[in-house]
Amino acid sequence: MHRFIMITMTLCVLILASALAWAAVEAPTDLKLGPPEGMRVSKPLVNFSHGKHNAAKIECTTCHHNWDGKSEVRSCSTPACHDQPGKKGTTAFYTAFHSKKSETSCLGCHKIVKKDGKPVPVSCKACHAK
Ligand code: HEC
Ligand code: HEC
Ligand code: HEC
Repeated sequence: MHRFIMITMTLCVLILASALAWAAVEAPTDLKLGPPEGMRVSKPLVNFSHGKHNAAKIECTTCHHNWDGKSEVRSCSTPACHDQPGKKGTTAFYTAFHSKKSETSCLGCHKIVKKDGKPVPVSCKACHAK
């Protein structure tokens, strides 16, 4: 009898765990980031690795700052988010990645962690690598 209960419980835990794993949103591995359709491309596209940032223990919601942790993750350039051409204002596409005032833009964060001696790109060419 004991054995039967143990097996049933183990099965329940396994089923629950796989259901949770299936429901969780997965971060794509390696991305090449570029401007949204209709915006001019003037720089080489940027390599981005979720794996390296996850390993550095950065929360998903540090970057995906409007994400609720369950629903679909929206692109940075979703209309009315960071989809404007030019360099001014928080809705500018450029600002999302280069703002020095924000600790959560690519450049804003890298400038801070570079001071701790971490190997992070901070020059145009290091991110926009050919
Ligand atoms: C250091 C910043 C950063 C962190 C941390 C991060 N992401 Fe991302 N993620 C990005 C960027 C940038 C993109 C590309 C967005 C775009 O295409 O506009 C992206 C794209 C995605 C996409 C694809 C969205 C699409 O446009 O189809 C998913 C899904 C995703 N991330 C999930 C996650 C999850 C889950 C985590 C946490 C485990 C995570 N991300 C952590 C920056 C980050
Ligand atoms: C909140 C902080 C933070 C943000 C935001 C962030 N990074 Fe990073 N990034 C890091 C840290 C920390 C590392 C170093 C990881 C390590 O220890 O090697 C890193 C490493 C990197 C590297 C070098 C490692 C590699 O993948 O070759 C690249 C390239 C990079 N980031 C690109 C980006 C881009 C592009 C964005 C914006 C879409 C971004 N990062 C946003 C903290 C951040
Ligand atoms: C930490 C990484 C990082 C650094 C450093 C960086 N950028 Fe970017 N930049 C990005 C990301 C990510 C995007 C969005 C993806 C894309 O459009 O290539 C972007 C987009 C752009 C865009 C709009 C898209 C395009 O092709 O025109 C311009 C312009 C730009 N960057 C210029 C610069 C310049 C100039 C510098 C140096 C002063 C610089 N970037 C430094 C990550 C970076």
